[in-house]
Amino acid sequence: MKVKELVLRELVKHLKQNISGESLAKTLSLSRTAIWEAIHELINDGYKISSKTNKGYCLSMPQRLSKEVIEYFLSEKAPIKHIEFKETTDSTQNDAKRFSLNNKKEVLILSDHQTAGKGRFGRAYFSPAQKGFYMSLLLFPKRTHLDVPQYTLLTAVAIVRAVENLTDKQPLIKWVNDIYLNGKKICGILSEAVTDVESNQITSVIIGIGFNFSTPQEEFPKELQKKATSLFADTQPFISRNELIVEIWKQFYQLTNTDFIEIYRQHSFVLGKQVSFTEENKTYQGIAKQITDAGQLEVLLADGNLKTLNAGEISLKSISTC
Ligand code: BTN
Repeated sequence: MKVKELVLRELVKHLKQNISGESLAKTLSLSRTAIWEAIHELINDGYKISSKTNKGYCLSMPQRLSKEVIEYFLSEKAPIKHIEFKETTDSTQNDAKRFSLNNKKEVLILSDHQTAGKGRFGRAYFSPAQKGFYMSLLLFPKRTHLDVPQYTLLTAVAIVRAVENLTDKQPLIKWVNDIYLNGKKICGILSEAVTDVESNQITSVIIGIGFNFSTPQEEFPKELQKKATSLFADTQPFISRNELIVEIWKQFYQLTNTDFIEIYRQHSFVLGKQVSFTEENKTYQGIAKQITDAGQLEVLLADGNLKTLNAGEISLKSISTC
């Protein structure tokens, strides 16, 4: 590990507190000069570190994504032991798949920017640098009762809970995998199962989250202007992406053995609303009535028939109040 990474880890342990150069040097068995050089490298990388005579160094909560910050705070709250950070990548979902070919351990892959971010049904996911976060958690579930749609529901609940805990905002969930704020999408979830071709068994699950954190509204591409927004589209963020990421995974693990489906229903953006969807080239309209325990959406059609929609097959086309 590089000296600057060792120093950063120590500073993170004392986040927003002073720690002297002498103490850092002693803990890391390094010279004061090496510490000083590492601090300067970190400042050049964009970390805010103040230094005061007789008090030492003090790291502020970084606004940039920091693996060290996330790792340190997650270690107390979630059983995620291995995190990989990529400044830029094609897709963290692809990274997680590549990782799973050679490793049989869980990993969280996190990136500041994706060049080929993907959503459900092969759609592209807009993934600009510095204003969002893109991450994929690779899991090897030992239990079978949480199947893939359930992971999507659990993740959605973890995200709305995390946002509510850290801000005054009240996001809603558009069945099945979108998080909405002020009627527009701020986050998408893509859960994928990796299947062993020989046994036809699910060997791993990859949960991908793309979060629009602080993209100003005018920076969304024209075609997304009416559909997408970010958590802080028109105000300065008062939390960091690192804090939100830690809170999301904390909630994810806390909620695993709870009745998260009920919380999902309470945060639904679609229940009671008129929705439309297409199946086998035919468009249907009806009222979204219920979300089943298996994550399906029940829609009451105009002719009185109840249609049960499976998350993996259908996405809603439009939603409006009746
Ligand atoms: C959707 O809106 O349909 C789901 C979007 C999921 C995007 C995330 S970003 C992290 C991970 N990497 C990807 O390429 N996709 C997921």
